[in-house]
Amino acid sequence: MPDFVGAVDQGTTSTRFMIFDHSGNEVARHQLEHQQIMPNAGWVEHNPTEIWERTRAVIETGLRNARLSASDLVALGVTNQRETTLVWNRRTGRPYYNAIVWQDTRTDRIAAALNRDGRGEVIRERAGLPPATYFSGAKIQWILENVDGVREAAESGEAVFGTTDTWLLWNLTGGAGGGVHVTDPTNASRTMLMDLETLDWDDELLSFFGVPRPMLPRILPSSHPEGYGLTRRTGPLGGEVPLAGDLGDQQAATVGQVCFEAGEAKNTYGTGNFLLLNTGTEPVRSRHGLLTTVCYRFGAEPPVYALEGSIAVTGSAVQWLRDQLGIISGAAQSEALARQVDDNGGVYFVPAFSGLFAPYWRSDARGVIVGLSRYNTNAHIARAALEAICYQSRDVVEAMQADSGVVLDVLRVDGGVTANNLCMQLQADVLGVPVSKPVVAETTALGAAYAAGLAVGFWRSTDDLRTHWNEARRWTPTWSDEQREKGYAGWKKAVERTLGWVEMD
Ligand SMILES: Nc1ncnc2c1ncn2[C@@H]1O[C@H](COP(=O)(O)OP(=O)(O)OP(=O)(O)O)[C@@H](O)[C@H]1O
Ligand SMILES: [Mg+2]
Repeated sequence: MPDFVGAVDQGTTSTRFMIFDHSGNEVARHQLEHQQIMPNAGWVEHNPTEIWERTRAVIETGLRNARLSASDLVALGVTNQRETTLVWNRRTGRPYYNAIVWQDTRTDRIAAALNRDGRGEVIRERAGLPPATYFSGAKIQWILENVDGVREAAESGEAVFGTTDTWLLWNLTGGAGGGVHVTDPTNASRTMLMDLETLDWDDELLSFFGVPRPMLPRILPSSHPEGYGLTRRTGPLGGEVPLAGDLGDQQAATVGQVCFEAGEAKNTYGTGNFLLLNTGTEPVRSRHGLLTTVCYRFGAEPPVYALEGSIAVTGSAVQWLRDQLGIISGAAQSEALARQVDDNGGVYFVPAFSGLFAPYWRSDARGVIVGLSRYNTNAHIARAALEAICYQSRDVVEAMQADSGVVLDVLRVDGGVTANNLCMQLQADVLGVPVSKPVVAETTALGAAYAAGLAVGFWRSTDDLRTHWNEARRWTPTWSDEQREKGYAGWKKAVERTLGWVEMD
C-alpha cells in the first residue's frame, strides 16, 4: 500500500493541496489564492475556471516539491468552501456564470420572502436551516432566473449544479469526457434542498426554488469505500488515484479535530468562524439560532449530525483592516497594533458585512463601529476587530449550550486566526473557558485526508485517528467575571445597532 494520502482544500480565499503520512503528519503542501470578484455591493463571485486552474497547479507543484507521484498516494480527499454555487454545462464544461460565493447577499429578498410565509418553516424543519442568503438554493434560483438559456438546459440535465467539491470531482475524473457528478451529505445539507433524515433531495424543497432535479449531483457518503471515481492520468496527478473522501470544510475540520463523540466540538477561525458540535446519529433541532447539519457519513454507517454556529466575518475583518482601511500591512500585524492599547477604549466593531449569521440570522444587518470618542485610535479599532471575533464566538457558544445542555470545559480551535496569541487569549477571557490548539493546525485538509484514508483502509477506525491529536498550545482565562460580563453587555448593545439597517421592502 502507498504511504501517503492527499487532500485538496478548496477554500474561500485560496486552494491548498496537502499530503499526510500514516501518523497524520504533514509531508507537503502548496497553496494559491484566487480572485475575489465583487461587481456590486454585497455581491461576491469566484471564477470557476480559475479555481480549477489553481487546483491543478497546487497539486502539480505540491507533488513535485515533495518528489512524490500519484503512485505514492493511496487516495485523495476533497474538502471545500461550502454553499458557493456553480452551474455549468456538462457537455462543454463551460460555466454559465461565475460561482456565487456563500458571503454573497444578492438573494436577500428571496430569503426574506421565504421567511415571511410557511415555506420558511418547512425549510427549517426538513433541511435544518433558516432561510438565508448564505445557502445554495436561492443562489441556484438566481442563476436560473438571470442567465439566458440555463433553465431549459437545467431541465434536460445539460446544465448541472455543484458546490466546489462537485466541480473539482467532476474535473478530476475527466470533466466533459466522463466526469462524475457527485457530492456528499455535508455539502448537500447546506443547500436548503436536502431532507436531513433521508439524505436525499426533497421535491417540495426543490419546488420552493424552482430547481429541476436533473441538474443535481448524486449524494454519496463522505468517506466512500467504492470511491467516487479515479483521477485521470492526463490530469494534474498524472495517474489514477481513488477519490474517496468529500466533506465540506467545516465538517472536515471537525473530523480533523477528531470530534467523533457526541458532545465534542471545535471552532475554526478562518475567513469566518464555524463552531460545530457533534450531536451523534440524531439531528438536534436548534431553538437558539444554530443550524442542524450533517457532520459526516462514513461508508455504510449511519450519518452523524452536528449543531453549527456559522459566523460570516472574523478573519476577513482583519483582511478588511488591511485592504480597505489600510491600517495594517499584514494580518499578523493586527496583534502588534491591538497590543498598543490595554483595552478596547469603549469601541465595539460588529463586522456584519454579509448581515449577521448565527445566532441572529439577520440579512438586514450591516456593520457598525460604535462607541467612538476623540480619544480612540487605530489600535482601538484593531483591538475591537479581534474582540469581535471572540464575542461572535461567545454568542454562538451561548446558543450551543442553551440548545444542547453541553457545557464546554475547553474549546478546541484551529484556523489562520489562531496564530494570533492576543486574539486567542481574548477568546479564553471572553468565554471564561480555556482554549486549546492542536499541533496539526491544518485540520480542514487533514479531515479530508482522514475521510479518504478511512475509505480505503489506510486507517482502520476513528480510534486510530484519535491517537494523532496532540495539544500545541493552551490559553487560560485571566479576566474577572465582572469584567467578562461588562464587556459582553457592551457587545450585545453594539449588535442591536446593526439590525434593520437594510430596508427589505
Ligand atoms: N496573525 C493573524 N491575526 C489575525 N488574523 C489572521 C492572522 N493570520 C491570519 N489571519 C486571518 O486568517 C484568515 C485565514 O485563515 P485560514 O487560512 O484558516 O482561512 P480559511 O478560512 O481556511 O480560508 P479559506 O476561507 O480560503 O478556506 C484570514 O482571514 C486572515 O486575515
Ligand atoms: Mg479554509
